[in-house]
Amino acid sequence: MEKVFESFLKEHRAEIVWEDDETLRRDMHPQFSPASSQILSQIIVDSQLTKPEDGAFPYAQLSKWLMTAPRDQRIRADLAIDIPPSPIHFVPGQYQIFYDFKNTDMVLSELLSAGIQIKGTLLDFGCSSGRNLAVLRRAFPSKIQLFGVDPAQDSVDWLQKNVGGVSATVSKQSPPLPFDDEQFDIIIAKSIWTHFSPSAGRQWFAEMRRVLKKGGHFLFSTHGPHDVASRILLNIPSPRYDRYTGHEKWTREGFLMDLVDTYKRSGYYFQAFKEVGYQPDLHLIEDADTAEWGLMFISPEYLKTMLPPDLSIVSRSVGRTGNRHDLYIVRRD
Ligand SMILES: C[S@@+](CC[C@H](N)C(=O)[O-])C[C@H]1O[C@@H](n2cnc3c(N)ncnc32)[C@H](O)[C@@H]1O
Repeated sequence: MEKVFESFLKEHRAEIVWEDDETLRRDMHPQFSPASSQILSQIIVDSQLTKPEDGAFPYAQLSKWLMTAPRDQRIRADLAIDIPPSPIHFVPGQYQIFYDFKNTDMVLSELLSAGIQIKGTLLDFGCSSGRNLAVLRRAFPSKIQLFGVDPAQDSVDWLQKNVGGVSATVSKQSPPLPFDDEQFDIIIAKSIWTHFSPSAGRQWFAEMRRVLKKGGHFLFSTHGPHDVASRILLNIPSPRYDRYTGHEKWTREGFLMDLVDTYKRSGYYFQAFKEVGYQPDLHLIEDADTAEWGLMFISPEYLKTMLPPDLSIVSRSVGRTGNRHDLYIVRRD
């Protein structure tokens, strides 16, 4: 087994980010900090607000300030949204706060690095309770028109009630979306193609194309070799599948061996959560289709077979969100 893993890591060496001492890089930082810097600068000039402590990264400075700021200061800074109560869906970031400044900076940084201007209409596809939209709304209230969709009614209801300035809609698990052709300049989808089956992923790529303007851009994350390396070398994410005894492919070893072998042969790997009755994202959706949602790993070659011909790959950055997911940007020609 170790030999199989070693050979995978060797073969995909260039698609994994290593430190100088050849250990796996586990902490990724955005190149630019458009959202955090914007918000931080406003906090700093407000004489009634406590100054944030110095720090190497604006997202960390801002997050730490928010974690300790009293409620009246958070209200004054327009950063007073709390983490949604359970069971409303929410993906926790590195800090114990609702706003994921790091994640949003990473997404914006990728777009800016590719020469894309952050303006016009932006859709967060699979927005959950809105942790990214809340940061975007706070940082650029008049620059971008924000939209979010998610099939979880509770998430969208909560978002609408708590995050102002965003048009949030419940979507179906299958296309189409309730939007016009060519409505959006930018679409982001964080941790969505990490879960779609090949068939659902293809259908939704076609739908992204339909609602994207010509010349518009779509950013999404995938599990690639860096994520596999993290699972092999660091056991991160700590595999929840270990608890499903009796499911051969859902023990750590069974899963990773199957993943490495299938990825090599097919260029992708998909395991539906349905197999183990585990639904971390869909459990509040009535009559959810659970066969097309699970864990998906996609090679760049396989991805090309999934994209409509006029969605061209602009960039791919390895391990950029959650310290593990690759980020792609595609453009509608
Ligand atoms: C892992 S979470 C990511 C949430 C959000 N993008 C973030 O980064 O916080 C996956 C989200 O995808 C949503 N989802 C599931 N199936 C979907 C579908 N067919 N279309 C759009 N979103 C979907 C889930 O309800 C959940 O909110």
